[in-house]
Amino acid sequence: MEKKWWKESVVYQIYPRSFCDSNGDGIGDLKGITGKLDYLHELGINVIWLSPVYKSPNDDNGYDISDYQDIMDEFGTLEDFDILLKSAHDRGIKIVMDLVVNHTSDEHKWFVESRSSKDNDKRDFYIWREGRDGQAPNNWGSSFSGSAWEYDEKTDMYYLHCFSKKQPDLNWDNPRVRDEVFRMMTWWCDRGIDGFRMDVISMISKVEGLPDGQVDANTGYGGLENTTNGPHVHEYLKEMNKRVLSKYDIMTVGECAGVTIEEAEKYASLDGSELNMVFQFEHVGLDYDEHGKWTARRYDLRELKKNLSKWQTELEGKSWNSLFLDNHDQPRIVSRLGDDSPLSAKAIATMLHFMKGTPYIYQGEELGMTNCKFGCLENLRDIEEINAYHELVDSGKMTREAMIAGIEAKGRDNARTPMQWDASENAGFTTGSPWIMVNPNYKEINAEAELKDADSVFNYYKKLVSLRRKSEWSDLIVYGTYRLLDDESSEIFAYERELNGRNLFVLCNLSDREIHYHNDAFSKANALLISNCGEAELSEEMKLSPWFAAVWEVLSFV
Ligand code: NOJ
Repeated sequence: MEKKWWKESVVYQIYPRSFCDSNGDGIGDLKGITGKLDYLHELGINVIWLSPVYKSPNDDNGYDISDYQDIMDEFGTLEDFDILLKSAHDRGIKIVMDLVVNHTSDEHKWFVESRSSKDNDKRDFYIWREGRDGQAPNNWGSSFSGSAWEYDEKTDMYYLHCFSKKQPDLNWDNPRVRDEVFRMMTWWCDRGIDGFRMDVISMISKVEGLPDGQVDANTGYGGLENTTNGPHVHEYLKEMNKRVLSKYDIMTVGECAGVTIEEAEKYASLDGSELNMVFQFEHVGLDYDEHGKWTARRYDLRELKKNLSKWQTELEGKSWNSLFLDNHDQPRIVSRLGDDSPLSAKAIATMLHFMKGTPYIYQGEELGMTNCKFGCLENLRDIEEINAYHELVDSGKMTREAMIAGIEAKGRDNARTPMQWDASENAGFTTGSPWIMVNPNYKEINAEAELKDADSVFNYYKKLVSLRRKSEWSDLIVYGTYRLLDDESSEIFAYERELNGRNLFVLCNLSDREIHYHNDAFSKANALLISNCGEAELSEEMKLSPWFAAVWEVLSFV
């Protein structure tokens, strides 16, 4: 396996709107991030993934971009960006930008031109179609509820938007669109950035003829299979690689909804012809039900283990994994899989951070930040949740109570409550009035308190990062092979890592019960790397307390 810096890195994702507000307008900003770089340096991460900071009317918090080469008013200026980049580099931290090019904002100048007339020079930058019998051109649904088509009176045609109607899809089949995108990417690379996280990049090529999709019983719309992993996606990414990515020493990760192992091997093949790695989402859907994500249903640990392990073993030697449980689109993992306790946060982190792949920490995850009780519609901010609430509750498909419970369990706003810096008003996030409510538990869970507490979730993450990046086990943690143990257990997540005859044994009790554990895999521990329960001893019969986690270097039995 070829060694690469991005395989040996730990990435920290920042959602700038909710990270740190430097000017009291209630919205996080670039200067706020720059002011917190020492905190990130202390945690030990070496790459930041910045969610979008570009000019945007914020229909989807920056994932609707109106100018790719300027900064959102609320976040600051290009000069602030350059200062952030330099200050990060001075501390050995790289910055990966979010690249959102499946769609733009409807306020982007390309779309303003495109919608102005049928023969406008930019008309073909987007996907315009005639209606079908006075209705949308096909049955595709938007990820944010309703049809994926919006009727535009001016030219009596419909445009495609796989997300909100303020996020029209670009037409990647048009070579001029690709030229513009690659030119813009080059501009950022020349500015000194260190890579791209590519938003829904698996959606840039749609099936020819835009045929109706299979109808989803829950939404009544069809389409996902016709919008992901389309016929030209690999051709376009190879072109992007050739014309831009290959010219720089940067890292790339593609957000790939609907990706299978087979597809992932193409997106992130070891020959380096497309991307370095993908975010896959199979494990994310394992606790959904007939209402899709809007449910308090919890993971079945056996299913989760099976899925994560499948990606570990099947990509082995063929591609590279990205390791994530939290991000700005997911509820907090300590609530989703754990029980909100610091102990469960540490156990879950142990399970993830010893796997093979590049780990991603989402802001606040390192503090054990939890889901939030929003209570009512007025407290919600996310377009996906608000649209789904209206679609499902107003139509009588779900009760108000069930929907709020679903949103509190799975909604994206859980990840977007302000970062909890200290116990002062608004958790030290802003001196103004925050754009979204602060989780009321900030007095107990906050960075200031955790930095001082040797036993905190923060200090546990710090140790995890340092074991991976700067310890005698680094090579084994980064490059070793993975083997799942005890696959039938619904409480224990245990696995082995192996490299050149050296072995690690990772043992986590992901339940709130004491478990009697019979260990017949390993005889003797050479060293304890980390544990959330003090001096954990390895033996044949063990009593594992709730949320117990430990990792040993061991001599193999077999
Ligand atoms: C995926 C992003 O992660 C999500 O936040 C966004 O809403 C959609 N793509 C649309 O850009």
